[in-house]
Amino acid sequence: MADLLFEPITIGTLHLRNRLMRSATAEFLADPQTGMPLPKLATLYRALAEGGIGLIVTGHTCVAYSGRTSAHMTAIVSDEFIEPWREVIAPAQEAGARVMIQINHGGAQVDPSVVPEPLSPSGVRTNMQAVPRPLEEEEIWEIIEAFGQAARRAREAGFDGVQIHSAHGYLISQFLSPGTNQRTDRWGGDLERRFTFLREVIRAVRAQVGEDFAVWTKLGVAGKAQSGLTVEQGAKIAAWCAQEGLDCIEISHAWGIPEEIDQTGEAWFLPLAQEVRRAVGDEYPLALVGGFSTKAKMEEVLQSGVVQIISLSRPLIAEPDLAAKFARGQSDKAICIRCDQCRPSEFGQGIGCYHPTIRELLEKA
Ligand SMILES: Cc1cc2nc3c(=O)[nH]c(=O)nc-3n(C[C@H](O)[C@H](O)[C@H](O)COP(=O)(O)O)c2cc1C
Repeated sequence: MADLLFEPITIGTLHLRNRLMRSATAEFLADPQTGMPLPKLATLYRALAEGGIGLIVTGHTCVAYSGRTSAHMTAIVSDEFIEPWREVIAPAQEAGARVMIQINHGGAQVDPSVVPEPLSPSGVRTNMQAVPRPLEEEEIWEIIEAFGQAARRAREAGFDGVQIHSAHGYLISQFLSPGTNQRTDRWGGDLERRFTFLREVIRAVRAQVGEDFAVWTKLGVAGKAQSGLTVEQGAKIAAWCAQEGLDCIEISHAWGIPEEIDQTGEAWFLPLAQEVRRAVGDEYPLALVGGFSTKAKMEEVLQSGVVQIISLSRPLIAEPDLAAKFARGQSDKAICIRCDQCRPSEFGQGIGCYHPTIRELLEKA
């Protein structure tokens, strides 16, 4: 069978030159006060684009300051952000990659020194020190509107799409998980009611960007036991997302990683993707992130038809040109060992591979 990894693909109105995407990865290149993207981001995105990746998703970007997870997080909270974002993504687009912005609200999962009064569906603490406050009905609608406005700005800035962050225990994930959503009003209760917030976010985003613009989500399909979100529930949510007109779902985990997930090999969340595939039918576009290292595994997963796109985060921090190396036959395995030494120690440095031995190997290559 012919290789699929470097086959172009069109998803909705979005044409991608291959099946490799850079998963949203916070770059630590934001102005600490305002969240304005720093000019250095342009260099990082350009390097990824020149390195052959088909689609770049930006690091999570807050739609409102009440959801700013840390002082490193970028923002898109007013129209003043449109031009700076245009400037940082244009060079990557000129180099042939498509660029999508990941829009997020941290909810309870924010640094309390940045957001002193964290907000959440029901006041359940996740992994930060501060006890969050339950959201009022009016505040929920304000955040939904903020997602819509952020998407409009993204389109005006020239982005090729938006990805709604519905994974990793942030606000949308908090609404979806019974462990963090104990509301008894329209926003909580059974699964369908817990989906109400995401459904309204999708509708608000679509209303702003129209039908001819890529709207994706990164979905936390299931979380750790405490989250209460099971894969069966997550698959149902995915099917509703597809019905709501999202163009593609990237599969990831919710609040915590399900205990049964094996993280020793590659394609960690493949069991979640398989369940989602059954729920959304054969044709619906899916992407999968988590643990990919070898070209052979990526190709195998694509050939199986479970997903159409392979998504990578840490391997591209060490080797932004991994796609090109694969295409040239110069490499068949990422050098990254997922040691998590990617975060910078100094402000303005940005993410990078800071593992001494790997760094040395990269410098020699
Ligand atoms: C430094 C760093 C920053 C990250 N930032 C984000 C983010 O902003 N949004 C997101 O959805 N995931 C984020 N992630 C998670 C990755 O996108 C990805 O889901 C996870 O690392 C698994 O993929 P990998 O094994 O290819 O690294 C981040 C991961 C790392 C290491």
